[in-house]
Amino acid sequence: MIREPTSGEVMLFRELIAKRLGLEFDDTKLGQLARVLALHGAGNCPRYLTMLETAPEPLEALHRLAADLTVTETYFYRNVEQIQAFTELAMPSCWQTHENGSPVRILCAGCASGEEPYTLAIAVREAVGLGAHSVDIRAVDANPAMLEKAARARYSAWSLRELGPEMRARWFVRDGDMSALRESVRRSVVFEQRNLALDDDELWGVGRYDIVFCRNVLMYFTPAQAQAAVARMAAALVPGGYLFLGHAETLRGLSHEFHLCHSHATFYYQRRQHTREERRSVAPNPLNARAMPQLPPLLDEPRRWGDVIARASERIHTLAAAVPPLGGDATAPTGLDLRQALKCLHEEQFEQTLTQINQLPPQYADDPDVLLLKAVSLSQSGALVLAQDACLRLLARDELSAGAHYVLALCEEESGSYAEALECYRSAAYLDPGFALARLHIGVLERRMGETAAARRDLAQALVLLQHEDPARLLLFGGGFPRSALIALCQAELAAFGEAA
Ligand SMILES: C[S@@+](CC[C@H](N)C(=O)[O-])C[C@H]1O[C@@H](n2cnc3c(N)ncnc32)[C@H](O)[C@@H]1O
Repeated sequence: MIREPTSGEVMLFRELIAKRLGLEFDDTKLGQLARVLALHGAGNCPRYLTMLETAPEPLEALHRLAADLTVTETYFYRNVEQIQAFTELAMPSCWQTHENGSPVRILCAGCASGEEPYTLAIAVREAVGLGAHSVDIRAVDANPAMLEKAARARYSAWSLRELGPEMRARWFVRDGDMSALRESVRRSVVFEQRNLALDDDELWGVGRYDIVFCRNVLMYFTPAQAQAAVARMAAALVPGGYLFLGHAETLRGLSHEFHLCHSHATFYYQRRQHTREERRSVAPNPLNARAMPQLPPLLDEPRRWGDVIARASERIHTLAAAVPPLGGDATAPTGLDLRQALKCLHEEQFEQTLTQINQLPPQYADDPDVLLLKAVSLSQSGALVLAQDACLRLLARDELSAGAHYVLALCEEESGSYAEALECYRSAAYLDPGFALARLHIGVLERRMGETAAARRDLAQALVLLQHEDPARLLLFGGGFPRSALIALCQAELAAFGEAA
């Protein structure tokens, strides 16, 4: 009789999957992992786990595991806005740099059953001024079953659900219940079995691609593996090359090597002219190195501000009596201590918040938390130009700071630039999908600008987010309004549509 894996074995299996394939499984998936381990371990889990742990590159085993563990949902023209940004912006800009007429090199990382790379091949054929000769598409995935399906290129109506009848007729031939992709399109994509969690020199050669699509893949990776994969993509992209992630995925906390791009109602990234590694090799002189801004640490970064302020704000009430009076003889801070400044913000004493910030030791002048708090205080006190300046300084250090985009939006809105404000609020909400106040402002502005359906959807979402929003973040960004008041505002906005929650 086959022995069930022990819980210790399942935990080790989870660790090894993260290490070898990059995939993350939370505690709710332990039952699934136990079943897969029982199947693959075939009665000898310890031996199987040792092989996974110690074999230099147990490819066969990993491929079989990938077939059982990966999520492979995909379809043609998924997130059409990104495909438009690809053909109308990324492709022309890369094509222009290929003066000798060589094709734009595209990598589809995590291509599943081929719908995504084939979409790109169709899209360039459909686009004015491009064409089949303009691209060279390489598509990779770890799941062998998906790659076989991609090579067959026969698809169900479900996969083609975003395509109208004319597009179907142009690019597919009916084959019973299925649609077979035309041979000319099939030929323009090369599929390969590759593991994105590996340092694979051939796949990730420096400057090998102009555009990388890695959509809906990193969301299944552990943060550390996602960070490593993005670093490989950054190195493999030419400077100025483009990276498309899934529409709900961001590089926040994963990389500083890209600019955030926003066009065609979607977000994507452009690789900076120099990666951090390249900047280091350009400036080995320690004096130069010192001149470069120290970027904040990754991974912990999104949590850092929240932690600082959460701890501080929790203590604002309990420590209020113990906090030394303003201008009193508080002992000089040994670390970054924003409690006093936060307390002033909480009490809407913006001038004093700024005084507190200005009294911090000079080494904190460019600290991201300090810059953000400064930007908030300045915007609240009406000093919009200075607030914008603080935001831009913060964005120069961390382009993916949702808070900086949010405060910029507040400034734009305050100056009556509603379209610009909406764009900045959308960036903030994209970078941090749980950001209730950004979502609330988006809904309010959309309603004001007559985008009724979108406003209704965003306000409904804001209402849910507001109930769970971190108190520290409400304190910082809520403009002095408590949660109940913000919820009431959101409900009133929804009620204007005749559907109070
Ligand atoms: C949800 S699909 C995304 C397909 C397509 N990119 C899209 O957005 O429609 C995720 C794909 O990533 C692949 N994948 C997951 N981990 C991988 C790894 N370590 N190496 C290569 N591919 C991987 C899976 O096999 C799966 O086909």
